[in-house]
Amino acid sequence: MSDAPEVLPEIREQCKELMLSGHQIHQIMDRLLEDIKLGLGKESHAKAIVKCFVTYVQDLPNGKEQGKFLALDLGGTNFRVLIIELEGEKFHMDPKIYAIPQSIMLGSGIQLFDHIAECLANFMKEHQIAHLRLPLGFTFSFPLTQKGLTKGILERWTKGFNCSGCVGQDVVQLLKDALARRNDVQIDVCGILNDTTGTLMSCAWKNHNCRIGLIVGTGSNACYVEKVENAELFDGDTTKPYVLINTEWGAFGDNGRLDIVRTEYDREIDQYSINKGKQLFEKMISGMYMGELVRLVLVKFTKSNLLFGGRGSDLLFKRGNFFTKYVSEIESDKRGNYTNCRQVLEELGLNHATDQDCSNVRFICECVSRRAAHLVSAVVATLIDKMDEENVTVGIDGSVYRFHPRFHDLMVEKISELVKPGIKFDLMLSHDGSGRRAALVAAVATRER
Ligand code: GLC
Repeated sequence: MSDAPEVLPEIREQCKELMLSGHQIHQIMDRLLEDIKLGLGKESHAKAIVKCFVTYVQDLPNGKEQGKFLALDLGGTNFRVLIIELEGEKFHMDPKIYAIPQSIMLGSGIQLFDHIAECLANFMKEHQIAHLRLPLGFTFSFPLTQKGLTKGILERWTKGFNCSGCVGQDVVQLLKDALARRNDVQIDVCGILNDTTGTLMSCAWKNHNCRIGLIVGTGSNACYVEKVENAELFDGDTTKPYVLINTEWGAFGDNGRLDIVRTEYDREIDQYSINKGKQLFEKMISGMYMGELVRLVLVKFTKSNLLFGGRGSDLLFKRGNFFTKYVSEIESDKRGNYTNCRQVLEELGLNHATDQDCSNVRFICECVSRRAAHLVSAVVATLIDKMDEENVTVGIDGSVYRFHPRFHDLMVEKISELVKPGIKFDLMLSHDGSGRRAALVAAVATRER
């Protein structure tokens, strides 16, 4: 609509720091590539920031996997247990979602794994499979140093988790111990994997060019297919040419290398997080922080009288109250229409917002989400260029990518600008999410036996 109010020039001006210049993006790409190489290097890995963990996943699904598998998925907003039956091209999946209360996310490791084991046992009983010994794939979406497909040492918690007694431990063992304490079900853990790895596997099942698995959800991370000779720490089967690398790029910048683009809002997010100084790149991008970034900008402009006539609300001023889904909702309004925007602002007690305010709020959301999309694009383009293949499919999952109305388009546009000329790529949503991916790892692992 042509009569939509223009964004206030002062707001436009002050939001410039949220816009990345071409120069900054190229700096980020160069720095990330250096950091990836440090992560892969035998001598440099210990001190590297972008860890590039080897995963021991070397085979992608061939579409012929079959059987009944269990899958666990921990690491996003929900914890899921699934039973999956694969039969060639067909698969059937029965998932159940369980909440993980904050008291458990921040409690002891024993509590966490007892909870997981309890959910799993209940699930198996409900499905009348408690008497079977089934293969299980465990999607565990945190940084792990893997010692094989079924052994993963937790390096640090990320996102909202901080359970005691787990860092430095083998997570598969923690799960087995919890199941042994109950002693009512039998399982066979066939593989532990990151959600990025699972996303890649799940997309590769349908699309054989898939070489990158990306998550833009609660957290953000990617894995990619690397030549075995470049993965200097890999001690698995070196007769196979490739291995998947879990970059853990969320930690990029933890040594100050992103300070060229971080703003006062990013510093404040970090200041009030449970993992201060850690996962600084992820904090600029992912769903756990995006809404809060917008809220901080809104608060600043309210206080300087540029929004809402200088009158905020208790809800607006309270941390964590601007959900990331609001960003997607507000940007889903047609241009010049503020239906969702008004609804969100009303939920926040800002009934006095004018059309001008709505236009400004939308602009702020766009700045924050576009910056996230551009940062993700920069790192995806870095990986695509590094692989040096003509045609690369990126398998993607996560709530931000899935629900934000323009994230996909923003990424396509930016990555096209950034990759080496001649390289073709496409971005593919991982349709069936987390379940099939863990089952596929279990399936590929059992195929190997
Ligand atoms: C965090 C985790 C990482 C995971 C990502 C997306 O960055 O450390 O392992 O892949 O979130 O869930």
